[in-house]
Amino acid sequence: MTANSQSPAFSVPSALESELDALAARYPQKRSASLMFLHAIQEHFGHVSDAAVEWVAAKLGLQPINVYELVTFYPMFRQERIGRTQIKICRTLSCALAGAYELRDHFCSKLGLDASRHGPQTTPDGRFTVEFVECLASCGTAPVVMVNEELLEKVGAPEADRILAQGQK
Ligand code: FES
Repeated sequence: MTANSQSPAFSVPSALESELDALAARYPQKRSASLMFLHAIQEHFGHVSDAAVEWVAAKLGLQPINVYELVTFYPMFRQERIGRTQIKICRTLSCALAGAYELRDHFCSKLGLDASRHGPQTTPDGRFTVEFVECLASCGTAPVVMVNEELLEKVGAPEADRILAQGQK
């Protein structure tokens, strides 16, 4: 039985599966490839779902809990689907003092998200994910926001609205 047939709702493209198989074969203990598997899964799917955790565990001969503990321990892994436009607002000191909290409130209010909720939030249409992050290493130009791979500095409400308008397209 293959890992795919154990998780019928979740499947990995055969090219990616072959790459991962080759990667696992390089290690005396397959579990050593766990983090690389998770990075590859997240890169492809945007997050690591429960089904993906089971798939990785089956591939590496582990229990799902062994993989799940990695996903929950390392902050770079996401368990939830993320929006097409990912908005990360720095909330560390310089940015907090320069209005990061008000900026997040602004995004949340414009997108109908709950500003009192912790953690990443994604709009029901899957267009936007809004979340706080820690220092983005541009403290002198606070408040700083990452929109997907782009770093934006001194972001105020007009720039926030431009980001949202762009993401609606
Ligand atoms: S405090 Fe926001 S970039 Fe450093």
